[in-house]
Amino acid sequence: MKVTTAQSAGFCFGVKRAVDQVYEQVNDKDSGPVYTYGPIIHNDQVVNDLKKRGVKVLESIEDLDTVPPGTVVIRSHGVSRITVEKIEQKGFRVIDATCPFVKRIHRVVEKQSADGFHIIIIGNDRHPEVEGIKGWCQGPVSVVQCAADLDKIPDLTEKKICIVAQTTFNYNKFQELVEKISKKRYDISVLNTICNATEERQTEAREIAKSVDAMIVIGGRHSSNTQKLFEICKDECKNTYFIETLVDLDSKPFQSFRHVGITAGASTPNKIIEEVQKSMSEKSFEQMLDESFKTIKNG
Ligand code: F3S
Repeated sequence: MKVTTAQSAGFCFGVKRAVDQVYEQVNDKDSGPVYTYGPIIHNDQVVNDLKKRGVKVLESIEDLDTVPPGTVVIRSHGVSRITVEKIEQKGFRVIDATCPFVKRIHRVVEKQSADGFHIIIIGNDRHPEVEGIKGWCQGPVSVVQCAADLDKIPDLTEKKICIVAQTTFNYNKFQELVEKISKKRYDISVLNTICNATEERQTEAREIAKSVDAMIVIGGRHSSNTQKLFEICKDECKNTYFIETLVDLDSKPFQSFRHVGITAGASTPNKIIEEVQKSMSEKSFEQMLDESFKTIKNG
């Protein structure tokens, strides 16, 4: 059996970088107690492993008053400028693990709003990344997620507008909304700040699923990006299996497959992907032994 694992399976660059930074702080004796501002990632295995190593998750600025000073790691979504300042004012050291792609948006909106642009963020107003971006604007800002939201923004006919996007926003929807805003003939500067990590992961999964006998998609049951990966793969390959960890994998059907593909959602740790990959490769070895045994027997 041949096993093909997607290169883009699992953590994107920004999440991997943030998780690595928490482990670095844990191993650094000078860090004092280590905290993350919100869960570093939506993956229970990682959060629990960090918990075992003493890392506490803080949910709000008020939580800082309940713990001894130490190091606070900001996750890849980023936070507002005021949040960073408040954490520092309370005597904590800040390690900013905001994804550089998100940080770039912070810098753009900070500068453009200082230059008098009204900022429009295309994204989900309640998403922590968008909340963080809003917190770097120095003037008026509106968040637009769908066409109906456009009616809620003030009349901007005379204003200069700068449009940015939440990094995980759907590109086609972003284009549609930008077109609608452009029709109103505002003075617009548009920055496509969508990150292509998700799209790359999906495209690669689709390509692999097309060419294999079975596909394994690894990720949390509630992770929407993993569910999406599963749907994409299932469309191309009817033998697609959704598992959270190796324990969920029923290996029986795999005895008849010659080529198996593996991909994983954005919050699946490498360790879990490697375990599945290893188990499949061992299966290939068993198959090989089995086949040579049959040949000897028949021969
Ligand atoms: Fe990940 Fe950063 Fe993109 S966190 S999805 S690489 S914006």
